[in-house]
Amino acid sequence: MSDAPFQVEVLADATAVARRAGEYVARRADEAVRQRGRFTIALSGGSTPRTLYELLASPAAAALGPALAWERLEVFWGDERYVPSDHPDSNYRMTREAMLGRVPIPHDHVHPIPTDLADPQDAAASYEQTLRRVFQLTEGGLPRFDLVLLGLGPDAHTASLFPGSAALQDQGRLVVANWIEKFHSFRITMTAPVLNHAACVLFLVSGSEKTVALREVWYGPRDPQHFPAQLIHPESGELVWLIDRAAQDGLPVPAEQQSTTKA
Ligand code: 6PG
Repeated sequence: MSDAPFQVEVLADATAVARRAGEYVARRADEAVRQRGRFTIALSGGSTPRTLYELLASPAAAALGPALAWERLEVFWGDERYVPSDHPDSNYRMTREAMLGRVPIPHDHVHPIPTDLADPQDAAASYEQTLRRVFQLTEGGLPRFDLVLLGLGPDAHTASLFPGSAALQDQGRLVVANWIEKFHSFRITMTAPVLNHAACVLFLVSGSEKTVALREVWYGPRDPQHFPAQLIHPESGELVWLIDRAAQDGLPVPAEQQSTTKA
């Protein structure tokens, strides 16, 4: 693990992880809108963040902090499965059902990864152009997200940066089409330099099936090829791990990190 500082918060369960993540979203969004007039966020997929998305779209969001100014949000995805947007595996579909279809966010502020193109490489290139446009990037520039949400797979993958996959080495592009052999399919994913350029990266990790991956990422030898989440250490941003007790399962929280066990 990089020697860059990171914070770990241990929460009671997945619901508590979602609630704490919601507090981060509300606070970070309020700060960003006040300071820069908008809040840019890259969402993660999978099942863990769904509870967060449902919470943000519900009346209970009022208890998380300042109300989200949905018209000031710019929503992206850190990765996407290369399936149609209405496919059950689509991260976009999951997020639309859990949140985006229930909140007043302007349509042109929602930036799904295009998965309707024949060639996944074209999809990655198209999404990269969307990032360049919305963030008004100069050549070689990186988008600085206010917040990036990430999950952790049991194999220590994050976004769609899977062990042994080509995207792990990509330093020159913002978004790539990454062939995932074990799924025999492509995923579109932001690359580590983009994720590491964020102001804040928030991992949401829940469940006992993640304990081994956490151990390898935090305490294992530096080996991002096998433990891709080790690539994530924002060069000038905050890194926070929100994990539940099932995922921690007695794993010692790195001594130099703050650890707050929430009710
Ligand atoms: C995806 C995600 C992926 C996810 C992890 C953890 O597209 O599936 O981006 O990286 O975050 O697989 O998923 P869970 O949180 O559902 O276990």
